[in-house]
Amino acid sequence: MADQDELLAFFPVVVQVSQVEGAEELNQGLLKAIYEIKETVPNTKPPGWCCEVYTTIRTPYGLLERQEFKGFLTIAREKILKYAQGLRYDVEKFPPRINECWVNVYSATNAQEVHRHPNSVFSGIYYVKAPKGCAPTLFHSEVSDVMLDPPLVERTRLNTQVQHIDAVEGRMVIFRSWLRHSVLPSTIDEERVTIAFNVTM
Ligand SMILES: [Fe+2]
Repeated sequence: MADQDELLAFFPVVVQVSQVEGAEELNQGLLKAIYEIKETVPNTKPPGWCCEVYTTIRTPYGLLERQEFKGFLTIAREKILKYAQGLRYDVEKFPPRINECWVNVYSATNAQEVHRHPNSVFSGIYYVKAPKGCAPTLFHSEVSDVMLDPPLVERTRLNTQVQHIDAVEGRMVIFRSWLRHSVLPSTIDEERVTIAFNVTM
């Protein structure tokens, strides 16, 4: 009998990528609200962040309660449920709930260092404004900074340590909060605007 060889991939990193229906209209309203927020709410970028970005993370201004975000949050809750059900988590007994939501406005040279979202089960990113050529979101393997890549003839899903997800307007990305991610500086001189959220269950 001939040899049989199989490459098995254990413990998949599961990321849900969705395109939201009617995003153009939704984004117009969100963008208007976000720029109003940016005018009135000070940047809450924590002192430990090395990067430059306008963010309302940990803001006391409560985006979750703002009327302009209601429609967005309904969509986000639907997508979170889909993701959790896809992973066979018990959403009946332990319904997921968004406990934090904030906006990020990246100018051309702004970026976001590699980070996780602590104290959460799921996290999400929604691209409100993502002009062509703006930076993707990079997802990093747990071993990306402790292992040297062997020389590759081809980068594939089995050997890559960094996965790009392009920023596309109306795209929502949901992932487990432990998954490290980052944003490189843009190569274009236009703003990139996202809404991020954390979910517990
Ligand atoms: Fe993040």
